[in-house]
Amino acid sequence: MSVAELQALERAHAIPTYARFPVEFVRGDGCRLWDADGHEYLDFLAGISVLNVGHCHPRVVTTVREQAGTLLHATNLYYTAPGLRLSARLAESSLGGKVFLCNSGAEANEAAIKLMRRARPGGEIVVVHEAFHGRTYGALSATPQESKQAPFAPLVPGFVVVPKDPEALDRAVGPQTAGVLLEPIQGETGINVLSDELLSAARAACDRVGAALVFDEIQCGMGRTGTLWAYQQTPVVPDALTSAKALGGGLPIGALVTGERLADVFQPGDHGSTFAGGPVIASAALVALEICSDQPLLERVRGLGERLAAGLERLPFVSVVRGRGLMLAVDLLEGLSAPDLARRALLEQRLVLNATGPGTIRFLPPLVVSEQEIDDALVRLSALG
Ligand SMILES: Cc1ncc(COP(=O)(O)O)c(C=O)c1O
Repeated sequence: MSVAELQALERAHAIPTYARFPVEFVRGDGCRLWDADGHEYLDFLAGISVLNVGHCHPRVVTTVREQAGTLLHATNLYYTAPGLRLSARLAESSLGGKVFLCNSGAEANEAAIKLMRRARPGGEIVVVHEAFHGRTYGALSATPQESKQAPFAPLVPGFVVVPKDPEALDRAVGPQTAGVLLEPIQGETGINVLSDELLSAARAACDRVGAALVFDEIQCGMGRTGTLWAYQQTPVVPDALTSAKALGGGLPIGALVTGERLADVFQPGDHGSTFAGGPVIASAALVALEICSDQPLLERVRGLGERLAAGLERLPFVSVVRGRGLMLAVDLLEGLSAPDLARRALLEQRLVLNATGPGTIRFLPPLVVSEQEIDDALVRLSALG
């Protein structure tokens, strides 16, 4: 089927929520993708930080094949081992409490929002400007972006939005606050690293009133910044974190991970999901988590991030480079269009990138990217200048 035929199908039958590029991908391997005509692409988006282990990682593929041939689904009315082993590994790798598994990032944040409210009934949830926490109603209500929220009003009540300013955040938190929800590095709005001062102020404010501090590590976790979890490079330990995207090694999963204080807030019947923590996806996630926990890989991510950032700074059409590890973005010089550059990178240079706004391009390559692939991406980018 040609791209034109796919577009005709889409026009006739798909609810038009996506503005797709005219490329059909049919195969992936490591940092490479191939389209239906056999052209090879260099992938510096990794399915929006999903393929941290690379496309079709052989260990993920083997595990999925084996588990799929044994047991696909049983429901959470019964025991299956992979989901509980995954919960143990997630807790041990981070906050040491307990885990609720679900199917996506938005669902992980829904679980976090419900958990905060369950711990302090009726309490407010504080979020910051330029946050993105997902598209379901609770997560959307925590995502203070006019264009995303306005068409769907009324939203869930009880969310308070503050600027990314330590004093403003401190002032917004009081006895009425159930919790503060933050991405330590904001992804969808252009890779904005929240300052240590802001994160410390959030920690202190939550401690002052007994509110919960929750980090959304859906995009910045799973090794993306050079430590398994982004909070591990900050002075702050949250009370809970959410994960998704790269956790499944390419398959859909989400997780809410708590520290000890919030571990027993939910009781049987408070929350649940039919597919959550099913054996196939949980087996894949166990492999992805093990790969992304590897210390030599994480050190490499930090070095490769510096190499990519240094190369991006040398590009004549770039004004600012920001981010941490392999979670980077550039602002283009005034007047240049990021969506146009991303389109040309894809169609002219076969380099997969993403524009997060009119002047910002983000870079999220698989963590298994090589030095040569980084240099190759920089060469392809300079050809667009
Ligand atoms: C930080 C963050 N939180 C939540 C989400 C929502 O995740 P999902 O698309 O899996 O629902 C995203 C997705 O981009 C994200 O980047």
